[in-house]
Amino acid sequence: MDNGGMYRGKVLVAGATGKTGQWVVKRLLHYGVPVRVFSRDKDKALSLFGDRVEIVSGKIQNALDIALAVAGCDAVISTLGSSSYSGESSPADVDRDGVKRLADEAAKAGVKHFGLVSSLAVTRWYHPLNLFAGVLQKKWEAEEHVRKVFANEGRSYTIVRPGGLKDGDPLHYKLHVDTGDRLWNGFINRSDVAELLVLALWLDKAKNKTFEVVNGTQEPQTALDQYYDALPE
Ligand SMILES: NC(=O)c1ccc[n+]([C@@H]2O[C@H](COP(=O)([O-])OP(=O)(O)OC[C@H]3O[C@@H](n4cnc5c(N)ncnc54)[C@H](OP(=O)(O)O)[C@@H]3O)[C@@H](O)[C@H]2O)c1
Repeated sequence: MDNGGMYRGKVLVAGATGKTGQWVVKRLLHYGVPVRVFSRDKDKALSLFGDRVEIVSGKIQNALDIALAVAGCDAVISTLGSSSYSGESSPADVDRDGVKRLADEAAKAGVKHFGLVSSLAVTRWYHPLNLFAGVLQKKWEAEEHVRKVFANEGRSYTIVRPGGLKDGDPLHYKLHVDTGDRLWNGFINRSDVAELLVLALWLDKAKNKTFEVVNGTQEPQTALDQYYDALPE
């Protein structure tokens, strides 16, 4: 399937070897969008995606690695996420500084659109998840940076704040979307988060939006683009 000519650019996926990132790659390929992945583990990327994508290996700590990865891409989608309290996989290194560095290098390279997976509750400093090295606070700081850098000069962003992430195929649930960080709980399939980020590449109504999303009732969906219409202004 292609996207009806709506999007012709190449997309860099950072965090592509992670669970949500793999879905972003799958959905991009489903729509016929050329994909480059940025991974610190080239073998893992190769075993997951083979020759269906370009692979650039490097660390999110290294601006030069990122510059090579974003060169020639039209959009970046980040599904990066921390997994340890400190060090190179920590919230400070990945969720905040890694995403900020990625946004800066992408803007410098002329990337036009930045999609980011963030989280429900990022504005709530008192949330228990912040006991994990301030992860929500770090994500919030990254969001602010992305909004600052990508809402200007012909660029755009889409920031998706999902509830708890689950595995499973896309388009099996109605979605509930909101803005202003008012949702307290809920779950969503990673595949639906991926689909929303991919649709945002070519839907004008998704541009420069930050929103929360969780599952509603289980019900097959033909498409998810209508949920961008449902966002409060
Ligand atoms: N779990 C939840 O319920 C939940 C809820 C809301 C939001 N979120 C957020 O949603 C996002 C995606 O979650 P997920 O479950 O898909 O995460 P995941 O499977 O842990 O994937 C995270 C990705 O980040 C990459 N990464 C980590 N440190 C890196 C570094 N220093 N340099 C380069 N890449 C690095 C990992 O690479 P490797 O493959 O090499 O490890 C992996 O590809 C995360 O930001 C997460 O915090 C999660």
